[in-house]
Amino acid sequence: MIVAHKPDVNPDDYCYDTGLKFGSAAGKYLLEKILMRQAGFLPDAVDNKQAYKETAKHNTFSNTKEILRRKKQNKELNNDLTHITSDQWVLPEDLRKAFHKDLPAWLLGLDADTTRTLVQMSHGGDYFSIHSDSKRCSSMFMLLQGQEQETHWYRNTEAFEILNPARIPDHDKIEHVVTAVIRPYRWYVFNHAAWHGVSGFVDGGARVHVSLDFKKLSAQEVVKVVKANTPLARSGPC
Ligand SMILES: [Fe+2]
Repeated sequence: MIVAHKPDVNPDDYCYDTGLKFGSAAGKYLLEKILMRQAGFLPDAVDNKQAYKETAKHNTFSNTKEILRRKKQNKELNNDLTHITSDQWVLPEDLRKAFHKDLPAWLLGLDADTTRTLVQMSHGGDYFSIHSDSKRCSSMFMLLQGQEQETHWYRNTEAFEILNPARIPDHDKIEHVVTAVIRPYRWYVFNHAAWHGVSGFVDGGARVHVSLDFKKLSAQEVVKVVKANTPLARSGPC
C-alpha cells in the first residue's frame, strides 16, 4: 500500500502492487522453515560481508573518506537507533524448483539467465539504512512476514557518485519520494536501483521476504511486462 508519494512521481516506478498472490503456500513453507532455523535448510547464504570487505580494500583514500562522511550523516539521521542485521540465501535447486512450480511462465522467462531466487531475513534492530542494491535492479517481491514496516524511496536532487561497497547516498542530495507499507503474500515490483530504506522494525520481529531478483531489468520494465500479462489483476494505486 502506497501511503505517500511526491505528486510529480509515478509510485509504480518504485513499488507496484501487482495484486498477484501465486506461490503463497510455498512461501509459507519457506517462512516456517526459516523461522525454525532448520539446520542445513538453506545452505547457500549470500556472504555479503566478505564481498564488502574485498571491495572496500580497493577503494581510494578519497572514496573511503567520502563513504565515512556519508555513514556519519546516516548515523546522525537515525539518532540512537540500531541498524538491523540482514541475511540472504539463494534458494537451493530443490526449493527453487518447488517454489517456481507455482509461478507463471511469463514471469520465469523474464531474463531467466540473470535472475536469482532469494530469501532475506532482517532482524535485531530498528531500521535498514538508505542504500541502492548492487546485485539487483528490480525484483518481484513477496513479503512472508513483516511488522508493517515502512519502505521509503528517494531520488537525487543533485548528481553524486555511487560508491561501493556501502552504496549509501549523500543524504544532502536526495529527497524522499515514495513510502509504502508492503502487505504479506502479495507480489510487488520493487525498485532496488533507486535509493531505498526501511524503518519501523519491531523489537524481536523478523521481516522475511522471497524475491525473484532481476540483475538487469529495471522496475519500469518489469511493471510493463506484469501489466501486459495481468490486465485484470488490479487497478488503481496500491
Ligand atoms: Fe535493498
